[in-house]
Amino acid sequence: MEIIKRLLLYIKPYRKRFIYAMVCMVFVALSQSLLMLLVKPMIDKIFASHEKRFIVPIVAGVLTAGFFKFIFSYMQSYLLSWIGQSVVRDIRNDMYENLMGQSLDYFIKASTGKLISRLTYDVSLLQRGIVMIPRNVLRDGLYVIFYVGILFYLNWKWTIAIFVAFPIISLVIMTIGKKIRSRSRRSQSLTADIYSFLQERITGIKLIKSVTTEPMEIAVMKEKNWNYFNVFMRLTRADIIQGPLIEFLGVVGIATVMLWGGMEVINGSVTQGTFIAFIATAMSMYRPAKSLTDVNTDIQTATAAGERIFELLDKRPSVIEMPDAVEISSLERKISFEDVNFAYIPGKQVLCGINMEIKKGEIFAIVGPSGSGKTTVINLLARFFDPSSGRILIDGSDIRKFTFRSLRALMAIVTQETILFNDTIAANIAYGTAVTDPESIENAARLANAHGFISKLPHGYDTAIGEKGVTLSGGERQRLAIARVMLRNPQILILDEATSALDSNSELLVQEAISKLMKGRTTIVIAHRLSTIKSADMILLVDKGRISGMGSHEELFAKSLLYKKLYESQYLE
Ligand SMILES: Nc1ncnc2c1ncn2[C@@H]1O[C@H](COP(=O)(O)OP(=O)(O)O)[C@@H](O)[C@H]1O
Ligand SMILES: [Mg+2]
Repeated sequence: MEIIKRLLLYIKPYRKRFIYAMVCMVFVALSQSLLMLLVKPMIDKIFASHEKRFIVPIVAGVLTAGFFKFIFSYMQSYLLSWIGQSVVRDIRNDMYENLMGQSLDYFIKASTGKLISRLTYDVSLLQRGIVMIPRNVLRDGLYVIFYVGILFYLNWKWTIAIFVAFPIISLVIMTIGKKIRSRSRRSQSLTADIYSFLQERITGIKLIKSVTTEPMEIAVMKEKNWNYFNVFMRLTRADIIQGPLIEFLGVVGIATVMLWGGMEVINGSVTQGTFIAFIATAMSMYRPAKSLTDVNTDIQTATAAGERIFELLDKRPSVIEMPDAVEISSLERKISFEDVNFAYIPGKQVLCGINMEIKKGEIFAIVGPSGSGKTTVINLLARFFDPSSGRILIDGSDIRKFTFRSLRALMAIVTQETILFNDTIAANIAYGTAVTDPESIENAARLANAHGFISKLPHGYDTAIGEKGVTLSGGERQRLAIARVMLRNPQILILDEATSALDSNSELLVQEAISKLMKGRTTIVIAHRLSTIKSADMILLVDKGRISGMGSHEELFAKSLLYKKLYESQYLE
């Protein structure tokens, strides 16, 4: 009920059109009923008693009713589609906006396939519901009401005979509806599962190929498909039995009328027109009556989809900007961590009691075994997550006081993997900046040692990343990322194992670009190769989420066994 209320809120802006659509439906049902009403005079006046003067009015009536039905049916369908598509557009916009507002933890937990299926499959189910439900309820409901009226008008005794089956039918529909609801839930979750699976396997195709698990992957997919098929067929069985079953119950009713009415026509107490019109009307009632039973399925499906859609829409981000957040324009003195504790998963502590200071302008290095929490430190500084306790301060102010926009504008992060969108090289470099002029973009690319390879591409800076034949090496992608940072010109540069995935040849070019990038900035560097951080002003050694040492390279080398071990193991590589 709650869900339907919320859906109605989405329809509310279009209520005028909705009312027009309903008016059209009333006219559709009226003109159709008029057509049915004309059957009796046609038989009795024209076929039975050959009264010529009735031919023209009856034909004129049929034409008029047919014409109105055509016009109003068209308008009704158009209006409903318009409303359905508008609601879908609005909901999808809201969903995307909400999705963009989520904190990173949400994307780590939710599978991409599941999110995509919500934005596509669920939304389309809802759209179908918005178009089908009012049409089936109102138009077909009116059909049934009008037809029943006509039947009563024609012969009330026969009408009652037809409707003895009614309570049985309602019971059947109610039982089946329950089954449909649970089965439709299950089929939806399987759809999401298949989306996720496909998405993962397609992006992970390189791994699959390299370990030749294609046959296994095919088998897994086959099983998922079979499973989906079975669940879907179970849903279908419940769904499609409704129509034929009701039709059959109706046929039993009609057979009764035929027997009874046939006798009355033979002994002359009822006209042929009444008999034929009655049978014709009763038979025409099946389709709308069946639609009415479909409403049940449609409502169940649409509300189940609505439930999932609103679940996403209701999700609030875990890291939020304060309502009175202020802008931070620059780092003046230092960044400090005060007793910072953090856990991604409650109870599984990742950072413990981190206290440190990063002074403006220095090169601050973080080293430690993999999994020790180095990237997590950065995640907290950029406020992708908030500490579970303790504070992070910039020049003495808690970073939670600043707007996301101004805080994140202070810093840029370069990691091993560079995210590029399917757009031109120039657009990728300028992404996230207000820069549009080609000279600045080219200048940034030159500084990043990227101009050379870009100018060799088929369309230079206008080459699209996804274009056929354009494949960039890891080093080239990374130099694009560096050019992007050059353009953003942040005060704080964060390098998270930026060069660890590169071969030494391209590392040299990247390293050189990075050196230029570091000039005049505060740099936090997490390095895989300890040789690159020998020159850091301060080195923080972390181990299992705790600070295990701090100082210059010489100091740490002299007093920390772990540091010595890390350093030496690298030279053995
Ligand atoms: N999104 C996450 N959800 C849960 N645990 C995480 C997540 N990211 C990292 N971790 C865990 O936190 C610990 C520290 O990770 P990380 O900071 O990435 O280490 P490092 O960068 O030093 O290799 C690891 O044990 C890792 O498994
Ligand atoms: Mg890391």
